[in-house]
Amino acid sequence: MTYPNPKLRTISQDVTSFDENLHALLDDLYETMLHKNGVGLAAIQVGVALNVLVINPVNEDGEQKKEDLLEVINPQIVESEGVIIFQEGCLSVPSVYEDIERFKKIKVKFFDRFSVEHTEVYEDFMAVALQHEIDHLRGHIFIERLSYLKRKKFEKEWKKQLKEKAAV
Ligand code: CO
Repeated sequence: MTYPNPKLRTISQDVTSFDENLHALLDDLYETMLHKNGVGLAAIQVGVALNVLVINPVNEDGEQKKEDLLEVINPQIVESEGVIIFQEGCLSVPSVYEDIERFKKIKVKFFDRFSVEHTEVYEDFMAVALQHEIDHLRGHIFIERLSYLKRKKFEKEWKKQLKEKAAV
C-alpha cells in the first residue's frame, strides 16, 4: 500500500498466537521486501494490522544476506539516546528520500517467530530502520516527521506525481 492510503494510518495490534499463520506472514514480508528492493517492511504495508516487521540490512560488501534478517514481533522501545539524521526512504512512498531525525541508539524489547522474548540494543542504521518500521505499526509514516515547509513541498510534488500517473 502506498501513501496516502488511509489504511497506513491503522494502529496495529499485538500478535497473540505464534503459529504457522505468523510464520507465513513473516515469510511473505521477507519475499515482498526483497522483491521491491527494500531493507525493511511492516505488516501494515501489505495490509495486515499486526505488530510485525522485518529488516534486512545490507552488509559492508553491499550484500543483503538472509542471515542478517531481523524478524521483530510486538516491539517496544524501552530506552533511547542520542540523535542521528539519516536519509530515509519507504516502499509506501516510492522514490522519496528525506533526511529524518531519530534516536541514535535504542533498546528494544520484542519477540521472535518462536515467541522467545529478546531485549537488544541497536545503533545507527538498525536503530533508524527499527524506529521507521515501528512508526508504521503505530500508524505513522516518515514524511510526518518532516518540517512544515518540507512537508508542504513533498505534498505538492506527490500530488503532481499521482496526477501524472493517473493520466497515463
Ligand atoms: Co516505510
